Amino acid sequence: MTMAKPSLTLFSTLTLLFFLFSSHVAAKQPRFYRSVSPTSLGLRKEKLSHLHFYFHDIVSGPKPTAIRVAEAQMTKNFPTFFGAVVMIDDPLTVGPEPSSKLVGKAQGIYASASQNDLGLLMVMNLEFCEGKYNGSTLSLFGRNAVFNTVREMPIVGGSGLFRFAHGYAQAKTHWINMTSGDAVVEYNVYVFHY
Ligand SMILES: *[C@@H]1O[C@H](CO)[C@@H](O)[C@H](O)[C@H]1NC(C)=O
Ligand SMILES: *[C@@H]1O[C@H](CO)[C@@H](O)[C@H](O)[C@H]1NC(C)=O
Repeated sequence: MTMAKPSLTLFSTLTLLFFLFSSHVAAKQPRFYRSVSPTSLGLRKEKLSHLHFYFHDIVSGPKPTAIRVAEAQMTKNFPTFFGAVVMIDDPLTVGPEPSSKLVGKAQGIYASASQNDLGLLMVMNLEFCEGKYNGSTLSLFGRNAVFNTVREMPIVGGSGLFRFAHGYAQAKTHWINMTSGDAVVEYNVYVFHY
């Protein structure tokens, strides 16, 4: 009995300390953010890359790569197809011929967002499948006034080797069949990335 008292006291003290400590931890909420050094993510020097390829927008025939998925009842009243939404999975090739080597796909949506001229809202991911950028993507988001000779659209981000990418794309129609709407567009993309 004489032995039990001090150990009980010690136990109570430890218990008290434990609760004090745990309540202290609970009061101090864990943070959801922290600063990190760029090198801890393997980021060293920012570089500038130029990518050049051809974008094949095939809307006709048995194997279209661009399909209209939605439009408004009023879309037909607009010569600019205002309200039409097209989902694309367009091949990107090194040369302008359809048989040219595939380097990636442009996957996303373009939609007619202009009532008075042909101005498309472009939202697409350029997914590359060749060379060192195989598996990396660039995200493009911008306005495409398709009848202008050169259209410029921002590159707003990327993944893989294109993490932190920012830059711009310039699109120039290389060939268009005005009857079917099929088109081949030359792209020059300039991006900063690590
Ligand atoms: C690209 O990456 C995929 C998936 O890792 C792989 O299957 C394919 O062979 C690669 N292509 C080239 C050309 O390296
Ligand atoms: C343009 O498209 C029309 C309709 O699909 C087709 O008949 C014609 O052969 C095409 N022209 C060229 C040069 O490919």
